[in-house]
Amino acid sequence: MRHVMVMNSKGGCGKSTLATNIATYFALKGHKVALADYDPQRTSLDWLAVRPDDLPAITPVDAHDGGLRGVPRDTEILVIDAPARTHGTEMNELVRRAETIIVPVLPSPIDIRACARFMGELLELGKVQRAQARLAVVANRVRENTLMFEELDQYLSKLKVPYLGALRQSTNYLRAFQRGMGIFELPEYLARPDWEQWVPIVRWLQSKRSQPA
Ligand SMILES: Nc1ncnc2c1ncn2[C@@H]1O[C@H](COP(=O)(O)OP(=O)(O)OP(=O)(O)O)[C@@H](O)[C@H]1O
Ligand SMILES: [Mg+2]
Repeated sequence: MRHVMVMNSKGGCGKSTLATNIATYFALKGHKVALADYDPQRTSLDWLAVRPDDLPAITPVDAHDGGLRGVPRDTEILVIDAPARTHGTEMNELVRRAETIIVPVLPSPIDIRACARFMGELLELGKVQRAQARLAVVANRVRENTLMFEELDQYLSKLKVPYLGALRQSTNYLRAFQRGMGIFELPEYLARPDWEQWVPIVRWLQSKRSQPA
């Protein structure tokens, strides 16, 4: 089973949004997917609760107490929506559970600063240093041609981890979320620009670069 975690200690940066979309991407590809929600707010589980029955199934896993029980044995991809405010031992425990970690970051001075601290901590972990967990960053909720995005873009480009590009701020994410869907399940005429921004993310997820040898 593959474990793909979306993580950042900063709240509200898009962890649940990316986690639900990564889960739908793999489910649409025909994989057996489960989505584990570590967040006491249960955002991902709420999303799954309204997911239409006629769309590819994703199994909910309630992990808010820190456990990972109830993952079906035949699961191929376990997507993990990590909680905010994780540091120290808790962060170490979470990272033990994943080989692939995506970190979304918002274009704001507070988020960039928080990310710098978080990445510093993450890159110090033994598992990451031994390349047993592969990391990448994604800019989220960006508005093109803004100074703030430019700053974030420069900051992420300089990090020593793959920078998979930026997802625009789009009501499509809200629209999809509300209906228990992913961005890939919205009609093309609405979501094509978003699909294009996901190309480098899904390419990385499917490549060996995101999976330890
Ligand atoms: N690219 C985007 N465009 C528009 N809205 C977005 C985008 N990404 C996230 N959002 C919205 O921003 C808010 C926060 O996103 P989300 O809940 O995914 O963050 P989170 O990191 O999981 O938050 P928390 O730390 O509370 O768990 C939500 O209302 C979500 O719908
Ligand atoms: Mg969340």
